[in-house]
Amino acid sequence: MNKNYISSIDGEIYLRERRYDHPKEIFKQAAEILALASPAACQPSLSLVDLGSATGEFAYYIRGLNPEIKLQCIEHNPELVEDCRALLAQRGIDICCGDINDLQGVADSTFDFATSFGVTQIFEDFKPSLGEMIRVTRDGGRCVNLMMLNEFPIDVLIRYRVPGTGVVQANWNKFAMSSVAEFLEQHPEVASYRFLKHEMPFDLPPREDDPMRSWTVMTPEGKRILWNGLNMEISLYHVIIEVSKGKNS
Ligand SMILES: C[S@@+](CC[C@H](N)C(=O)[O-])C[C@H]1O[C@@H](n2cnc3c(N)ncnc32)[C@H](O)[C@@H]1O
Repeated sequence: MNKNYISSIDGEIYLRERRYDHPKEIFKQAAEILALASPAACQPSLSLVDLGSATGEFAYYIRGLNPEIKLQCIEHNPELVEDCRALLAQRGIDICCGDINDLQGVADSTFDFATSFGVTQIFEDFKPSLGEMIRVTRDGGRCVNLMMLNEFPIDVLIRYRVPGTGVVQANWNKFAMSSVAEFLEQHPEVASYRFLKHEMPFDLPPREDDPMRSWTVMTPEGKRILWNGLNMEISLYHVIIEVSKGKNS
């Protein structure tokens, strides 16, 4: 069974902080990977879904780059959905409640692009959410799923207790890159895929008030890597998938 850990911590952060005008670096990278600002992508006939969107910050950022593309957000936490619905609607972005592991009511091949950032690593198994992303993407479409990956062939399932409350959280699983690769290689609707490691272009200082917020550490080779209060590298990768519905037909 794929346990669905909902992070109340994430919810609080997204409700408290308004970061629409400060897009995350991962959002900028995904927009570039998908060429979402290009004239070819600025078409009302094209569509993108962001899965586990929280308050829709990624879609909001994309609307600033691309006034035409249809933008849909799907988020599990109804409080987040209600909080941002009106603001997103003003920018022509729709948001609804849904579970990325089981996108009931979303037909196969609905979207040209599917994105998800920091969601798949919450679950005990990456396959249902990754499989749903691929299912709802059309032939010739592309998915970008940002998740933590282990470069060694071991799926690491992590739990930690939130200091103070003792609540068990599970947002930081590190699936083996080899497990994800095997799944994608065997998937009948995947034409090709690649992994692109996320690198921060600037230093992030640690936050004393919240050790679970990532900060950057310089390696002896001069590379900036992300670290957090779990005392491990936050090895984030964009999993980039080219979808082909006709591969086996
Ligand atoms: C780490 S946050 C990332 C939010 C957003 N993607 C971003 O990068 O700013 C994870 C989000 O996934 C949502 N989430 C958790 N379980 C989910 C599920 N089963 N289906 C859809 N969203 C889910 C959480 O409520 C939270 O908003």
